[in-house]
Amino acid sequence: MHNKAIRVLLVDDEVEVAERLAARLAGHGFEMVLANSVDDAIRRLQDTPLDAVVTDVLFDGRPEGHTLVEAVGAHQEGCPVFVMTGFPVVSGAVTAMKSGALDYLPKPIDPVNMVAMIHRAVRERDVHVEQLEFSELVDIVSGLVANTIERIDPYTAGHGQRTRRYCDVMADRASLEPRVRERLQLAAIAHDYGKIYLEDLGFLTKEGPLTDREYQSVKQHPLLGAEKLGNTPHLKDVCRWIAEHHERWDGRGYPYGRKAEEISLPGRILGIVEVFDSLATRRSYKQPWPLEKVMDFFEDHRGKNFDPDLTDLFLQELEDNGEEWIAQPQRDRAALGLDTSPTVGAHGSSATPNGNGAKVLARRAVGDAS
Ligand SMILES: [Fe+2]
Repeated sequence: MHNKAIRVLLVDDEVEVAERLAARLAGHGFEMVLANSVDDAIRRLQDTPLDAVVTDVLFDGRPEGHTLVEAVGAHQEGCPVFVMTGFPVVSGAVTAMKSGALDYLPKPIDPVNMVAMIHRAVRERDVHVEQLEFSELVDIVSGLVANTIERIDPYTAGHGQRTRRYCDVMADRASLEPRVRERLQLAAIAHDYGKIYLEDLGFLTKEGPLTDREYQSVKQHPLLGAEKLGNTPHLKDVCRWIAEHHERWDGRGYPYGRKAEEISLPGRILGIVEVFDSLATRRSYKQPWPLEKVMDFFEDHRGKNFDPDLTDLFLQELEDNGEEWIAQPQRDRAALGLDTSPTVGAHGSSATPNGNGAKVLARRAVGDAS
């Protein structure tokens, strides 16, 4: 957020009026920069970083406010601009707003009103900048993760990206606020990041069941991921959701054994979505499951593994988009030039989701290596 004094360029050709107003605004903690013509203001725009611009519309009787608004856009993109106008020149203010001014202030100017407008605009711009930076961070981490976890286990190619996409759909359905949705995307991308810190990576691509020792080891990955991603204040929520992605609604998950709403809402969404993609994906130990089987699985585990309300939302989503989502892992594999033949693993294991092995495969997909 904004820690330094807010620097405002005030542009008015009536010098005395401008100086009086500037003194009032300085009294509210603003750092004021004055200009008494459009040309003078443009020079200031070129050499002084600004947080906001307030300008008159008329200069020497000519409506030039919109020229200055356009200059702000050219020299200091994103800097909020306000125009000041009296009743006869409202049309000039409208022209200035069409050029990008945020709002107009009627003359005589109420300094308190102006201070509030500037504070609000600067705060909104800061939030916007922070969100842009965070979404860029999500894209960067996305690339890094794809080159680590998914390189170790090529069967998981695209798992992070798909989990990110479906999480965002579910976050929208659950009406999560934009800031949380954005952070959930990062958690979705990085949820299995901790796997690269496991001592033995060989069993991630192992065919068939894991030994107890291997299972205990792989269960460390949610906490490892949360720790290694850097538990900074900025990523505190993200790390919590990553740590929770194998928790279960009935309290039988790991690492904490948290129950129901002790698990955060984004953590519960992530838990559902990433199991879906694991079931839909061919892994070293299993074939992809057909949509009907996946939906049966979620109905069976509603209120056990998964939040019942979120499960209902998710099943609705699968009614609409399930056919497309279930086919996406195969499409991603094909796009990456990976083998898309129906046999599983180097030894051609014939495990299918419809045989007696279904329970074992579900456990492996849900609890061991998802
Ligand atoms: Fe996982």
